[in-house]
Amino acid sequence: MSARSDKNRVLIFDTTMRDGEQSPGASMNLDEKLRIAEVLEGMGVDIIEAGFPIASDGDFEAVNEVAKLVRNSTVCGLARATNIDIDRCAEAVKPAKKSRIHTFIATSPLHMKFKLQMEPDEVLAQVSKSVTRARSYVDDVEWSAEDATRTEHDFLCRCVEAAIDAGAGTVNIPDTVGYTVPEEYATLIGMLRDRVPNIDKAVISVHCHNDLGLGVANSLAAVKAGARQVECTVNGLGERAGNAAMEEVVMALKTRPDVMPFTTGIKTEDILKASRLVSGVTGFAVQPNKAIVGANAFAHEAGIHQDGMLKHAGTYEIMTPESVGLKTSKMVLGKHSGRHAFVERLKDLGYDIGDNAVQDAFKRFKDLADLKKDVFDEDIIALVDDEVVRTNDRIRMLSLEVLCGTKHQPPEAGLELEVDGEVKSCQGTGDGPVDAAFNCIKDLFPHTAQLQLYQVHAVTKGTDAQAEVTVRLEEDGRSVNGRGADTDTMVASVKAYVNALNKLLVKRDKTAPKALSA
Ligand code: KIV
Ligand code: ZN
Repeated sequence: MSARSDKNRVLIFDTTMRDGEQSPGASMNLDEKLRIAEVLEGMGVDIIEAGFPIASDGDFEAVNEVAKLVRNSTVCGLARATNIDIDRCAEAVKPAKKSRIHTFIATSPLHMKFKLQMEPDEVLAQVSKSVTRARSYVDDVEWSAEDATRTEHDFLCRCVEAAIDAGAGTVNIPDTVGYTVPEEYATLIGMLRDRVPNIDKAVISVHCHNDLGLGVANSLAAVKAGARQVECTVNGLGERAGNAAMEEVVMALKTRPDVMPFTTGIKTEDILKASRLVSGVTGFAVQPNKAIVGANAFAHEAGIHQDGMLKHAGTYEIMTPESVGLKTSKMVLGKHSGRHAFVERLKDLGYDIGDNAVQDAFKRFKDLADLKKDVFDEDIIALVDDEVVRTNDRIRMLSLEVLCGTKHQPPEAGLELEVDGEVKSCQGTGDGPVDAAFNCIKDLFPHTAQLQLYQVHAVTKGTDAQAEVTVRLEEDGRSVNGRGADTDTMVASVKAYVNALNKLLVKRDKTAPKALSA
């Protein structure tokens, strides 16, 4: 039986690389998107929305490359209800084994009047036109009614019916502004099932934003009311307060089949791997108390809880840590650990990197083990991620020297960078050592981007811990997060700044189309 014909099967549509990337600062470059796509496919995501091809050449390329890479999941691109968007999207998804065009138009009175400046009848005509055009390219078309939860019911029914008539196999009813509540949303889905005559020809999809913290609850309520596709993102990344978190939707369905007898195709043991990857790539740290993937999600601190856990894990645990990919074996590696143990640990942590990358990572692990006695899992993750984010960089740090302290004023930095293959060096001063080092970067690679965030986080405990630094830069309304890890906080800081600059360079060619909402 196919996933679509199984009545209790909920399709998981991941939009981390499209809606997720719309979070300010959460940009991803091509390599990062390909790595995420690989993990999403491996974990059994049904549909991967890889981007918005008309938005920029970078977005087009990402969707196109993901389409070439992924074989099992459907690869989808987003398009507004215009010919130019749909044509570009069709071209981008063309190489995919299974491709989908997702086209949308706003249907609420507010959006139609002020954003689109179109009459309802014009919007309705556009629904049919856009879906028909998308169908001329692919068999699998999804249509979305942007701001559906604030749309008049009669009009929503007419639009949904028109979209299905024109050939949409999936109709998405987004809560674009995170406004609805579970009961109301379930009623809306029920209303569409009752009133749209051709509704059984399409899968009903839901797409919930989290402005009121109800994204997951609304999605689950909609599933109970008949929706069979949930659009979500890893770690709940997304516009404003984000989208419904994939890990929460999936684990809620898996943990409570007694009240929600539905299945997904997700290999839940890969959840943590996906979460770490997305957090690493975007620089968006996962809050410790975040459901399912937070560092404390399976930690039991209170004595009474620990006592209960020792007697029976079920006392305080409703799902096992292993079921989301959290390994409990915590044998710490150190400088005497061999390559075999290191490779095994990489596998346990979900890294499947090629031989050359393993070789590099092992060398860096040995260097790290010389600097710190115990190398924890978190260190290995930081080390491997740190290496991978730097592939294809135009700017690379070669060396850094810093002089500072009470007797060395002003703080001074000496920095060597490789810029487009050319080695450049500079000496500079600043208000502090970080400022001095960043001034050197600006000197060697002049730019107008403004520093919006500088954040240091210790990867593990202890004074020999690696520092993980996040730097956010903003230029002409575009912001990017860069990341760097090292036992030397200054080195980590420069790596993070340089990483952000490299991402900005990739982003510079991105031009957002007008009224690029959703
Ligand atoms: O939130 C929204 O309405 C969207 C649509 C494009 C599906 O992201
Ligand atoms: Zn959205």
